[in-house]
Amino acid sequence: METILIVDDEKNYPFVLSAVLEEEGYNTITASNGVEALEKIKAHDIDLVLTDIKMPGMDGMALMSHIKAHNPDIPIIIMTAHGTVERGEEAVKKGAHSYIFKPFQNEQLILSVKIALNMYQVIRQNKRLQNELQSRYHFGNLIGKSKNMQEIFKTIQKVAPTNASILIEGESGTGKELVAKSIHFNSSRRDAPFVAVNCSALAENLLESELFGHEKGAFTGASTLKKGRFEISENGTLFLDEIGELSMNLQVKLLRVLQERSFERVGGIHPHPLDARLITATNKTLSHEMKEGRFREDLFYRLNVVHFSLPPLRNRYEDIPLLAVHFLEKYTKENKTKHPVTKIDQDVLRLFYEHEWPGNIRELENVIERAVILSNNDTIKTSDLPGDLRGKHEKTFNPDDISIQTSLPETLALIEKNLIERALSRANYVQANAAKSLGIKKSLLHYKIKTYQISIGSKN
Ligand SMILES: Nc1ncnc2c1ncn2[C@@H]1O[C@H](COP(=O)(O)OP(=O)(O)O)[C@@H](O)[C@H]1O
Ligand SMILES: [Mg+2]
Repeated sequence: METILIVDDEKNYPFVLSAVLEEEGYNTITASNGVEALEKIKAHDIDLVLTDIKMPGMDGMALMSHIKAHNPDIPIIIMTAHGTVERGEEAVKKGAHSYIFKPFQNEQLILSVKIALNMYQVIRQNKRLQNELQSRYHFGNLIGKSKNMQEIFKTIQKVAPTNASILIEGESGTGKELVAKSIHFNSSRRDAPFVAVNCSALAENLLESELFGHEKGAFTGASTLKKGRFEISENGTLFLDEIGELSMNLQVKLLRVLQERSFERVGGIHPHPLDARLITATNKTLSHEMKEGRFREDLFYRLNVVHFSLPPLRNRYEDIPLLAVHFLEKYTKENKTKHPVTKIDQDVLRLFYEHEWPGNIRELENVIERAVILSNNDTIKTSDLPGDLRGKHEKTFNPDDISIQTSLPETLALIEKNLIERALSRANYVQANAAKSLGIKKSLLHYKIKTYQISIGSKN
């Protein structure tokens, strides 16, 4: 719950505003002059300041410059009397987020507060990330604060010590291999090898001898004995990637190995025990492949004792800033850039929220690596991003684009429409989720969509 500090020397005003804002679900604190306001800011965690401009002693402008100097992350909304547009403009030039004329409608106040809090959220988030990176959102090399990822961390902890076979499904770049490694390194097998084989990279017969190994002279070209991956991964973990690409023939052979927990090298007759723990991964939906007759049902059940489904990045936007900062640190260290790149511009984060991320975390990692190399100073800017990400920038709202002649209600409507569009896009057009992220009721969102004629069908 956000806390708003209301500063006004008129006796009753703060109480009225306080009631309106508390009704909206905010915490409020009041102060009757600038000095008292500064004390309250020191003592409490304030998210927004709503201040009158005309006050005896330290007035609203002086209060604002104090706040700007010591707490630049707190947005300030100035309240000014009708007919003093210049004072409001001046306040905005000096760093107020916006101004509002007294007397105002409750809805007008609430909307201004909501917009200011939304805009500053990105900035504050950026700062909090640094601390969060060190905390509970880390599981080894895996990072994630989304509910999905937190669940995945818990499941890894539970299954790692067991020998259960594991199937990991997820789009390319969602972290399947990283999860497999994390399971390995959290198990008692951590000192034995982690052996990865990509089933789609080799032709069938090559893959067979890669997995099973072969005896000397087993086939033309087999001039020496070769140990296979089943053998090399002894006591460790065998990770079979792209298992959905395994041929029917090899599916039968793998099934037999799993049933008997033993295998023979190609051209050999001696059975060798299979000691490895098996983890498989695929970017296909194996149950679907099974129904289509491309994957054996009996093998599927052998592999799928424990199932992980890694969500695409577009379904866990809350992980983006955390991952972005993580990769920023990684590539700044690796590249030994002339100047350390330590910050991400808030426009960049906004673009990240709007992007679909078809390549998931791998794509985000590449974007950051490239930006670190291109960056001219300590901050990644939109100009350091590849074109396909920047192309969408027009969609982002920029207050400077609005003519100063546009009336306040019109301006607020434009901002509101933009925020709603972005929230919808971010929530994949699930209106209940968009409403939640905007902090409004679904019925109100529905009404606004109709009023502003916002398109809710496609994503572009
Ligand atoms: N949760 C995560 N936290 C940090 N880095 C991640 C995470 N998931 C994936 N990565 C990184 O993203 C890249 C792609 O991950 P990878 O496991 O190879 O994906 P997949 O096997 O699903 O294609 C790797 O560099 C990996 O380290
Ligand atoms: Mg992979």
